[in-house]
Amino acid sequence: MKIAISSDHGGNNLRQEIMQLLEELGLSYEDFGPKSNDSVDFPDFAMPVAEGVANGSFDRGILICGTGIGMSIAANKVKGIRCALVHDVFSAKATRNHNDSNIIAMGERVIGAGLAREIVSTWLAQDFEGGRHLRRVEKITEIENA
Ligand code: RB5
Repeated sequence: MKIAISSDHGGNNLRQEIMQLLEELGLSYEDFGPKSNDSVDFPDFAMPVAEGVANGSFDRGILICGTGIGMSIAANKVKGIRCALVHDVFSAKATRNHNDSNIIAMGERVIGAGLAREIVSTWLAQDFEGGRHLRRVEKITEIENA
């Protein structure tokens, strides 16, 4: 599984934690920054991850900002992206099983690193269940293509 990850300045610390987790899990990832704690605009950092997942260069993406909200809004503007803003383990599982989410967004100012690690581990391990959920995902795609 190839993973793309980025944050803005508000998510820098949690991004480091999650990259550490990915290394512990033996998963390969590409870090799209930022490289410093300078203030940046989150859409600039959401786009390489969202476009990389949408064009198939990566299987999954992880986006982190202060709240996760800006990153998720920006990522979901890219065709083919189903970015889920998640701050609990139940939703991390459900959004893979039911929504086939291909990007997860989290807020460093919302949850601690321990919970974020549990969320990401759960999200990466879960599969899409298909069936009635596939019909619903396809309806989202139809809206996107309209
Ligand atoms: C940056 O201050 C903050 O607005 C950003 O990290 C994010 O929370 C936006 O949704």
